[in-house]
Amino acid sequence: MNWAVTTYDSAFGYVSAHGAPLIDLLDPQPGERVIDLGCGTGTFSAEIAERGAQVLGIDGAPEMIARAATEHHGLSFIVGDAHDFTVSESFDAVASNAALHWMTRDPDAVIGQVHAALRPGGRFVAELGGAGNCAELIAAMQTAWRVFGLGEPELPWYFPSPAEYATRLEAGGFTLRLLEHADRPSRMTEGPNGAADWVRAYAASALADVPPELVEPLLGRVNDLAAPALRRESGWVADYVRLRFAAIRKPDSAAPMPGGPLTDPVS
Ligand SMILES: C[S@@+](CC[C@H](N)C(=O)[O-])C[C@H]1O[C@@H](n2cnc3c(N)ncnc32)[C@H](O)[C@@H]1O
Repeated sequence: MNWAVTTYDSAFGYVSAHGAPLIDLLDPQPGERVIDLGCGTGTFSAEIAERGAQVLGIDGAPEMIARAATEHHGLSFIVGDAHDFTVSESFDAVASNAALHWMTRDPDAVIGQVHAALRPGGRFVAELGGAGNCAELIAAMQTAWRVFGLGEPELPWYFPSPAEYATRLEAGGFTLRLLEHADRPSRMTEGPNGAADWVRAYAASALADVPPELVEPLLGRVNDLAAPALRRESGWVADYVRLRFAAIRKPDSAAPMPGGPLTDPVS
């Protein structure tokens, strides 16, 4: 594993703080109109606004939007599903931090909505979980579920490979300018119980069908299985792998001429 020592050593809450470099990739300019897609409580939206851009935060969870609106007065937030939101004006950029991998129903539909929201030449800049994300955590869950006779846990994410997501972006009308796929081991900050707390925080849906009396022993087994790879003297580390990209909406192609290409009527 390629440990990102600088990231590993710095003490920050990892979901939002990992947006910090993303803001530089986005490079929002004063007066630009920017959507923060899957904005959560609006931390990244506020960073965008600090650069002078007008930001619209969109999130599918009403409770996230309520919190964002309370914490960030003066910014605009709306509840919307990334698969089918509509906006009445065109935007200069769409940004998204740690959210696209939760939008599992139809990734092409999400890319299509982003395309529709952008002006030609507009930017789509995002970071999400990439192929191999949380491999140790997921393997520990799968083994523990099997040990307890529970079958496969239902995992709520989509972690695409760089090749797969690049293909989707190109097919969706974008030109890719940058695509990174990198290990991002990150301190777990959810609680003292390492992988067990991580599962409770991020894979709660997988626990929904587990008989209540099995939850604690099951999570204890997840911890035992994950510990050799993920527990350090300094604490638990999540084996994150991130996909980060910047893409440009291609100009609209010229409308096809009715009846096919023009021919010279004389020659
Ligand atoms: C891990 S949080 C990241 C929040 C924020 N971007 C940040 O950096 O802190 C993922 C967010 O994606 C939102 N989300 C998941 N699926 C969504 C969808 N289909 N449409 C809109 N938002 C969605 C969730 O509600 C959640 O707020």
